[in-house]
Amino acid sequence: MSKYEAQFPIISPSILSADFAFLANAVNEVTPATNRIHVDCMDGHFVPNLSIGPLVVKSLRPHTDAYLDCHLMCSKPEILIEPFVDAGADAITVHVELENIDEILKKIKDSGVDVGLTFNPDTPFSAVEPYMDQIDILLFMSVFPGFGGQKFIPEVLNKVTEAVEYRRKHNQDIVFTIDGGINKDTVRQAAKAGCDVLVAGSAVFGSPNPCAAVKELEELAKAGVAEN
Ligand code: DX5
Ligand code: ZN
Repeated sequence: MSKYEAQFPIISPSILSADFAFLANAVNEVTPATNRIHVDCMDGHFVPNLSIGPLVVKSLRPHTDAYLDCHLMCSKPEILIEPFVDAGADAITVHVELENIDEILKKIKDSGVDVGLTFNPDTPFSAVEPYMDQIDILLFMSVFPGFGGQKFIPEVLNKVTEAVEYRRKHNQDIVFTIDGGINKDTVRQAAKAGCDVLVAGSAVFGSPNPCAAVKELEELAKAGVAEN
């Protein structure tokens, strides 16, 4: 069984949609149903929103052994890599739209955490192709970054199909993640297209029972994979 079937598909709740006064509680509420947490870090410059940074990851770390997948929507992520690694991040994902992406990816790699690359809905797969042999995670943005609760952009699934074929042809071990507008109506098609990890913020933390929401989304994702 390849790495992809063994543990995937998996839901990765985005704490951007959680109550920031009780983040550790929010994480512990969902980790009975998943061991992966999506941490959205926004600098108010790369995106028109400001969220959390390394200090919050540092506070969360002792409260959970979940895989903390840090999605940096920041203009200068290179200055944040070391602080996030020291804080306990397991993965750092950065945007290919940045100028110095080569240098940033190398810095993440050298830091020892998993290397993630992400691209906006209107950025073509060809923009990330040159980096596919340097990354552990490819994150497909299915909304334009900056806010939770936005509408899923289904055309992004065409890029997932393209990337699945590329990964197969090059026999690579890259985890495909999708992020933005994942809910009961969209999770199945995203998993069927080939996404291993499905990030969900408002669909999880907007629910009265986040843990049950994660379980329901995972069941729907598995049903999507089973359709292949
Ligand atoms: C948007 C973030 C997403 C977002 C997901 O910039 O990268 O992770 O929080 O939230 P939902 O699932 O509500 O679209
Ligand atoms: Zn995100």
